[in-house]
Amino acid sequence: MKIILSSTPLEASNFVAERVLDHIQGNPCSVIGLATGKTMIPVYQQWIKSAKDRLIDHSRCFFFMLDEYQDLESDDSAKFENFLKNHFFTPMNIRRDQYALPTMQGDFSYEELIKESGGIDIQLLGIGRNGHVGFNEPGSKKDSNTRIVFLSSNTLEANRDSFTKTIPTKALSMGVGTILRSKSILLLAIGKSKSDAIKFLMNHHDDESCPATYLKNHPHFTLVLDSEAASKINLKI
Ligand code: GLP
Repeated sequence: MKIILSSTPLEASNFVAERVLDHIQGNPCSVIGLATGKTMIPVYQQWIKSAKDRLIDHSRCFFFMLDEYQDLESDDSAKFENFLKNHFFTPMNIRRDQYALPTMQGDFSYEELIKESGGIDIQLLGIGRNGHVGFNEPGSKKDSNTRIVFLSSNTLEANRDSFTKTIPTKALSMGVGTILRSKSILLLAIGKSKSDAIKFLMNHHDDESCPATYLKNHPHFTLVLDSEAASKINLKI
C-alpha cells in the first residue's frame, strides 16, 4: 500500500485527478472505474478542467460505475448515474456507449463485461464512515462479486442529504473481489468523518468489519488522504 498525504482536500483531489489523466494520456483506451459521493466532486471538477488544459482525449476510454441504488426513479438526483451525468459524463462529453452500470442480469455478467474490456486499469474509490467501499458494507466477503446489497442504517444516515424523493434500501455494487481484480486502486478519503475508518484500516488486515482493509494487500493500492482524514494515524507530511 502506498500512502499519499496531502495538506489540503484540494491537493488530495487534484492528485487523484492528475494521476488518472496521466494514465489516460499514455493509454487512450483506458478502462476506469468511477466512484460517487461528495468526496469525488472536486476530483471530477479538476479532471474536467485539466483534461481541457492538457488536451487529453477521452473518446476511446471506457468507464465502469462502481455501484448504483436500486428502486429509485430514473430522474431521481440521488441515482449515481445522474450524479455522474451531472459531474462528469455530460461536461466531459462521455457518450452513453462509453460507460456501464452494475447489472442484475446474472451474478457474473458485470464481471464478464469488465473482463471483456480487458479489466479496469484504475478503480477510484471513496470510503464510508464504517469502512465500506462501493456498497460493500461490513460483513462483505473478500471474494464477493457484483451483487445486490442491503444498505446499513449508518450508510443511509451518512447519505441522507442526497435523498430528496425515495430512501433506497438496497443497491447494486461491485464486490470486493471485483474491485481487487482492478489493476490499480486509488482510494481518496477527505475530512475528519473518515479518520476513524482510516485509523482502523491502518491497523487491521482482511477484517470483514471494515471491508477497506481487504485492499491493503493489493499490489497497486494507493491511499490518498488529506490531513484531517489522517489525523488519527501517525503520519507526517
Ligand atoms: C457511498 C458510496 C461510496 C462512497 C461513500 C462515501 O456510500 N457508495 O462509494 O465512497 O458513499 O461518500 P462521501 O464521499 O459522500 O463521503
